[in-house]
Amino acid sequence: MHLPHITPQRLPSVLRRMPKAELHIHIEGSLEPELIFKLAERNGVKLPYESVDALRAAYAFTDLQSFLDIYYAGASVLLKEEDFFDMAWAYLQKAAADHVVHTEIFFDPQTHTARGVPMGTVIQGLHHACQRAHQEFGISAQLILCFLRHLSEEDAFATLEAALPYRHHVIGVGLDSSELGHPPEKFARVFARCRELGLHVVAHAGEEGPPAYIWSALDVLKVERIDHGVQSIQDSALMQRLAQQRLPLTVCPLSNIKLCVFPTLAQHNLKQLLDAGLCVTVNSDDPAYFGGYLNDNFVQLFEALGLGPREAYQLAFNSFEASFADAVTKRAWEHQLKTFFEGLREHD
Ligand code: ADE
Ligand code: ZN
Repeated sequence: MHLPHITPQRLPSVLRRMPKAELHIHIEGSLEPELIFKLAERNGVKLPYESVDALRAAYAFTDLQSFLDIYYAGASVLLKEEDFFDMAWAYLQKAAADHVVHTEIFFDPQTHTARGVPMGTVIQGLHHACQRAHQEFGISAQLILCFLRHLSEEDAFATLEAALPYRHHVIGVGLDSSELGHPPEKFARVFARCRELGLHVVAHAGEEGPPAYIWSALDVLKVERIDHGVQSIQDSALMQRLAQQRLPLTVCPLSNIKLCVFPTLAQHNLKQLLDAGLCVTVNSDDPAYFGGYLNDNFVQLFEALGLGPREAYQLAFNSFEASFADAVTKRAWEHQLKTFFEGLREHD
């Protein structure tokens, strides 16, 4: 496809307005400090921080675990169905404003059920927000249930069981939380069961962990996408496999900087992954904690790496290709994307 020349000054506006999908967003990671304090007050939950500013000041992470400790503490304010609705609604409004036409939202039920919150409260609150966003913004929003990998496989099985009455509200399962020391194969049996149930399967792998975790996510869990996967660059056989199968990576640039996976955005390896033919996508991961929503990730990444309209088109295209939507819907979004780029004038 012919892409017009776009000046660097104009590129951020193109990135912001192009249609796109988001495939790696933890809804609990979209809880802004202001909403955490509002829900804490509404529910009578005492927080170990004096103010919104004090909480924000604690967002100085050194690695994944240092973030997860604060992230799970923030989620402790979520108790009622309306809390889950309000959290998801706030994210979906931002996603719609970012020209996200489709989003596949992760949630961590064990963080809530462990505090006595029923599974139905979590899923129904999130689902109602997805439904309303579809009605009001035309955005399609789906839910992916993530198992916490620092807990046991038995706990994951119990979580799956508790979610089965809401099976129709969930398109797939994922695997998140502390990666090192918790390899994908720990969850081989529960993922096999999820596949039998017809659920889509994804897993975080190669965020901090080694390429071996990506191999086992592929070969043992038989995942359809890898979340993060940036460490695959260390293993050329793995890179070839990912490229040949067009097995998508959901990369999260600002997250990788905030969690010290790369020292700076300019040193991020996304362009190398893209140039090697991998189906790379851009995502926000935990936007309230990492300093930006999806468009902020696009704009800052493109500036730091000096990317242009070709990469913009490719990354948005990949986000639709890598989604779990049906083929007809994907073609419609790809057409919408093409029309958007064709409509850009060389010099306006
Ligand atoms: N849960 C929320 N964000 C996460 C991340 N970046 N890695 C692993 N688990 C997470
Ligand atoms: Zn993540």
